[in-house]
Amino acid sequence: MASLPQSIESADDLQGARVLVRSDLNVPLDKKSGEITDDARIRASVPTIEALLDKGAGVAVCSHLGRPKGEAKPELSLAPAAKRLSELLGRPVELLDDCVGDAVKARAEALKPGEVVMLQNLRFHAEEEKNDPEFAKRLAAGFTHYVNDAFGAAHRAHASTEGVAHLLPSRSGLLLAREVEVMSGLLENPGHPFVAVLGGSKVSDKLPLIEKLLERCDRVLVGGAMCFTFFAAMGDTVGTSLHEDADAQQMARDLMEKAVRLNCMLQLPSDVLVADAFDAHAAVKVVPSDSIPDGWMGVDIGPSTSATYREVIMGAKTVFWNGPMGAFEIPPFAEGTRAVADAMADSDATTVVGGGDSGAAVAEFGLTDEFTHVSTGGGASLEMMEGKTLPGVAALPKAG
Ligand code: 3PG
Repeated sequence: MASLPQSIESADDLQGARVLVRSDLNVPLDKKSGEITDDARIRASVPTIEALLDKGAGVAVCSHLGRPKGEAKPELSLAPAAKRLSELLGRPVELLDDCVGDAVKARAEALKPGEVVMLQNLRFHAEEEKNDPEFAKRLAAGFTHYVNDAFGAAHRAHASTEGVAHLLPSRSGLLLAREVEVMSGLLENPGHPFVAVLGGSKVSDKLPLIEKLLERCDRVLVGGAMCFTFFAAMGDTVGTSLHEDADAQQMARDLMEKAVRLNCMLQLPSDVLVADAFDAHAAVKVVPSDSIPDGWMGVDIGPSTSATYREVIMGAKTVFWNGPMGAFEIPPFAEGTRAVADAMADSDATTVVGGGDSGAAVAEFGLTDEFTHVSTGGGASLEMMEGKTLPGVAALPKAG
């Protein structure tokens, strides 16, 4: 297996250490109330913080939230995250006014074993995303160690994920270590049959991922709006379904050829649920996927496809899922996505969900604990499955 980063698990030099922990607390917030709507990433950051406290460290957690583009935007303050983290840890979490500067450095230097503080949103400074070396130095000031647990941001070469790792003794947190281990296992040593379930809206967005999966999997089950680009590429009518242009359709044809060459079965839905509007109250019907009527749009895979996909999933040893099967945020269009989630939850296979929308769907169905692993990183897990090196991981010393 590719070398994994050295994790805090084996660290024995943390008594009295003042540790800067990069977590990914980029959680969804309710637009009106500003309240956290899904705290999964905050919960996932807890074991590393607790492990560090158990080892006798004081901890300063830092993260980005949203994309404030270098401006201090009050609505993107980490205050709600600090409050939630404090509830989860059962101890105070003081939120500092900034993430760099003299006051932050002084607070870092005064950090006592067992204390937890949170730095303010890293992206209030434009230098963070530029991986500015001076900014990385300012972030490191006052700390003795750095721990990266932000798998969800590990595909970003930013000062807090990459630059600072070169300035302090560094290790990965438990979450980042687990994510990297699971994803590397899928890439390098999956149990067969290895099945990927792939959804989402665009073939063109996921081209490198699909290519990689065709090389590694025995079957790729396609759903989501991207299947309409495949149908259009085969000359089928797609009604008003979301589908891509001629270039993407050529990509889809190339992928189908590649699948044949690689002896991987690229499977498309045999039936789809169509609606006369993108609306919970729209009229709906199930039709064969090669005859979507004019004026109707595909919004989910159909029941016969769901049953076939379930059977394939139940026969697999490894299943990787990325992207919902339909517009699951609208309840009448959620059945296909739910069927895949249920099948994966029921199967004995190693089941891994890339983060993002499919992770959100699994959480909504209350099935997160039924999977081997649900990634906290949408973009990061996608890039890892494409075989890319994540800068936040590469910057950490390797284990062994
Ligand atoms: C995510 O939500 O995928 C991560 O937190 C990274 O956020 P970003 O796409 O704004 O860099």
